[in-house]
Amino acid sequence: MKTDYLIIGSGIAGLTFSLKIAQHYPERKVVIITKSEDAESNTKYAQGGVAIVMDHLNDSFEKHIKDTIKAGDGLCDPNIVEMVVKEGPQRFNELLKWGASFDKNDNGKYNLGKEGGHSANRILHRKDQTGKEIEEALIKQIGKQKNIELLDYHFAIDLLTSENRCYGCYVLNERTGQILTLRAGYTVLATGGIGKIYGLTTNPEISTGDGIAMAHRANAKTKDMEFIQFHPTAFYNPDSNETFLISEAVRGFGAYLKNKKGERFLFKADQRGELASRDIVSQAIYNELKSTEENCVYLDCTHLDKEEFIHHFPMIFEYCIKNDVNIESDWIPVIPVQHYLCGGIDVDSNGKTSIDHLYACGECSRTGLHGANRLASNSLLEALVFSDRIYKQITKSSVNKLTQTITAADLNPLEQCDLSDNYTNDLETEIQLCMREKVGIVRNNEELKQTLQQFKVWKKEIEQKFQQNTISSTLCEIRNMLDVAILITKASIKRAKNCGGFLKI
Ligand code: FAD
Ligand code: SIN
Repeated sequence: MKTDYLIIGSGIAGLTFSLKIAQHYPERKVVIITKSEDAESNTKYAQGGVAIVMDHLNDSFEKHIKDTIKAGDGLCDPNIVEMVVKEGPQRFNELLKWGASFDKNDNGKYNLGKEGGHSANRILHRKDQTGKEIEEALIKQIGKQKNIELLDYHFAIDLLTSENRCYGCYVLNERTGQILTLRAGYTVLATGGIGKIYGLTTNPEISTGDGIAMAHRANAKTKDMEFIQFHPTAFYNPDSNETFLISEAVRGFGAYLKNKKGERFLFKADQRGELASRDIVSQAIYNELKSTEENCVYLDCTHLDKEEFIHHFPMIFEYCIKNDVNIESDWIPVIPVQHYLCGGIDVDSNGKTSIDHLYACGECSRTGLHGANRLASNSLLEALVFSDRIYKQITKSSVNKLTQTITAADLNPLEQCDLSDNYTNDLETEIQLCMREKVGIVRNNEELKQTLQQFKVWKKEIEQKFQQNTISSTLCEIRNMLDVAILITKASIKRAKNCGGFLKI
């Protein structure tokens, strides 16, 4: 199968790039592959919103830039931060044009929320389901674009590369078990996050770091893999591993974070209290739980206006009710869990990776925006800005149609053989346990080194299985999870100085 543009992933990054390139070249073919149903992605679950400066009376680009750099603890690339922040309003107008809508006040102005680390109200949102609103609007637009083919349940296995150039990828059709060789003029990785590697995460099941692992196996550079963001407030459920996100916007709305005794313990760590950035809040909760030997802390919303709360956070309210927590009288039990990867595939300011004709966008990429810790609601913004940068960069080039760019490369299709996946379930649980306990909020070199040795043993085993067994998406995912786990562990060993979300003792 051939296409001019191959996009791997159907979240905000993949879909916005696809729409732009398809509209620019109506005569060219754009193929999106996605490993689950079309809308399944991290994007769909985004709650808080998109951080964009809209209120130039009480806010400014300078303030947003300063907040982003402060949250990133000195490791952001200031040029990238400035570019992303300043391009935000244009990209937001495109979202509106594609049909997404955002909450407004009675006076017709956008209702701007606040989250940790932000010095002004600047979060555009649609209740507590901003991501769903965006994802649905984009999927609708994709359906209207005749030159886009969206293949759901198609799993990207590995990139096709030769002499540092990408020619597409091998794809498993999950419905038929058939493996396709999909050749492309340009390939964009938009495969999202890595949460499943930790097990306890806000991310959906699809988040197994596939794009990062594929890029790494093809020798693309990765960077900042040690900077894992833990979200401070996932609903704590002692009887299950379900970790539903309680948006940071709830704290922005005035909720207090308390220990069992009812103390607002965060002020010991930062004068901003509940509205300090996530790295600080998660680490403070970790320390509190360790010193009190409790299992969770609590979000207290009992002093807030219940009707207003329901108006802003209907999904969160309903989730709490279903779990026997009435926010009017009960505190919400919460714990920190994995939420976001600040690092990823290293890209330049146009989203290009270190491999020719291969771009990366969204959470799988490392652009320099987030440094050591991402500022809340900067991820959707980053994906919007970088998908546009990639689109502009690719359309600038004059010789980019597939027929002109493919040359004789050694592209041997993968053979298919027998399948087994009992083994992968146990291995997945073991990897998740290691990541939580040894590569979590607080790490130490000795344990990191032991863990790396263990990961290397499993890596050898899984590569053998991969050669000997029929390729399934489960087997590919576990192989990818292990590759990414190794990247995170190695980067954690290498980093000497604590900063942002990284803490080694
Ligand atoms: P995703 O939206 O995750 O999409 C990845 C796509 O790649 C999926 O379609 C997936 O199926 C596909 N894929 C992956 N591997 C393969 C493969 N091997 N083959 C084929 N397809 C593949 N950020 C904000 O800025 N504001 C928020 O309010 C916010 N809230 C969040 C709340 C939650 C609960 C979560 C989990 C995240 C939140 N984030 C938020 C982070 C943000 O949602 C994500 O970082 C962002 O949506 C990532 O978009 P993406 O397009 O890069 O990836
Ligand atoms: C949240 O709503 O708390 C998540 C926001 C984000 O990840 O940026």
